[in-house]
Amino acid sequence: MIIGGGIAAYKCLDLIRRLKERSHHVRVVMTKAAQQFVTPLSVGALTNERVFTDLFDLGDEREIGHIRLSRDTDIVVVAPATADLIARMAGGHADDLATAVLLATDKPVLLAPAMNPRMWLNPATRRNVTQLANDGVRIVGPAVGEMAERDEEGVGRLVEVSDLVGAIETALAPELAKHRILTGRHVLVTGGPTHEPIDPVRYIANRSSGKQGYALAAAAARSGARVTLVSGPVSLPEPPGVDVVHVTTAAEMLKAVQAALPADLAIFAAAVADWRIASPRSDKIKKSSAGGAPALELVENPDILKTIAQSGSTRPRLVIGFAAETLDVLAHAKKKLKAKGADWIIANDVSAAAGIMGGDSNAVHLITSDSVESWPQMSKAEVASKIVERAAAQLNANRAAAE
Ligand code: C5P
Repeated sequence: MIIGGGIAAYKCLDLIRRLKERSHHVRVVMTKAAQQFVTPLSVGALTNERVFTDLFDLGDEREIGHIRLSRDTDIVVVAPATADLIARMAGGHADDLATAVLLATDKPVLLAPAMNPRMWLNPATRRNVTQLANDGVRIVGPAVGEMAERDEEGVGRLVEVSDLVGAIETALAPELAKHRILTGRHVLVTGGPTHEPIDPVRYIANRSSGKQGYALAAAAARSGARVTLVSGPVSLPEPPGVDVVHVTTAAEMLKAVQAALPADLAIFAAAVADWRIASPRSDKIKKSSAGGAPALELVENPDILKTIAQSGSTRPRLVIGFAAETLDVLAHAKKKLKAKGADWIIANDVSAAAGIMGGDSNAVHLITSDSVESWPQMSKAEVASKIVERAAAQLNANRAAAE
């Protein structure tokens, strides 16, 4: 979304909230003038994303250039589209980030103009709007009514936020249909670590952040699936459109997973603790005045992936496990595929040097019973989309074969 510099810019905050509620991912570019009306800080707080403001910010160019920014989206929405921004678009300008994105994009562009009625009716604006409409740009509004300025009314108000959401979704419909490859499916995902209590204040845990599992659940939801995410303790926002079941221990995770069945696809991304304390104390263990440390007896936790992969009639049609390894990644992962009875294993190197645990990117291998594919390093969100795409293709192929 591109926020232009008009008084109606404040309505974009509500627009962002409404879009996020409806599970859309919103990334925002603000013009310099827009920042006079709303701050990048408030926009960023709502999108939960970095806000882009400057074409010549080298950091931006290295991480995500304006070309990628303009293509890495399903639609570019300009709201409010001011007379000046419309004129610069019609003239093919690219002297700031907003106009550069608009000139570089190959995606549908939707303008929501808002300006003073005289500016809207000015022949120059009329010419520019006609030009843009002829160029294939979609335009919603402006609406008729009172202006923010005193005693001004006419055509020029930004359309109501609900109408703008409707226009965006209509424009997006063909694109969204392409992505909804898991419609009608139930996808079960586990994510995050488990915490195994030692006593009421201490526990055994691991460094899993839950980012990969949450990204998988979000990607499956975007693909139209009903998604249940069984999550260990993490500090991540719940992905939109996903039923999240919060658990603490491995035993609770297994119970929640079993309760969520049947599922078409199950992805076990959680870093489940292998052991738990045999008998956690109900009172805090005290330091002994005589010195020495308490002995902790461990017992094995249930293997959730194995239990579900070998559960006979309730087994999801496609079962995917993760293998986090620090040595001999592929060899261990192949063994795990067999031992657990999974269909696929996604293997990654979690040695400290790889920086995967807690990080935002991942380099994985997809291991099936007869093949190994090594994917280049990419973000956890991209890994998630790719796994979901592949899984959907597999499920749809199974369905076609059965018919
Ligand atoms: O810990 P391990 O390397 O065996 O994990 C491999 C896969 O098994 C992962 O997908 C993990 O989520 C799953 N797993 C599980 N329950 C366990 C241990 C692992 O579901 N107790």
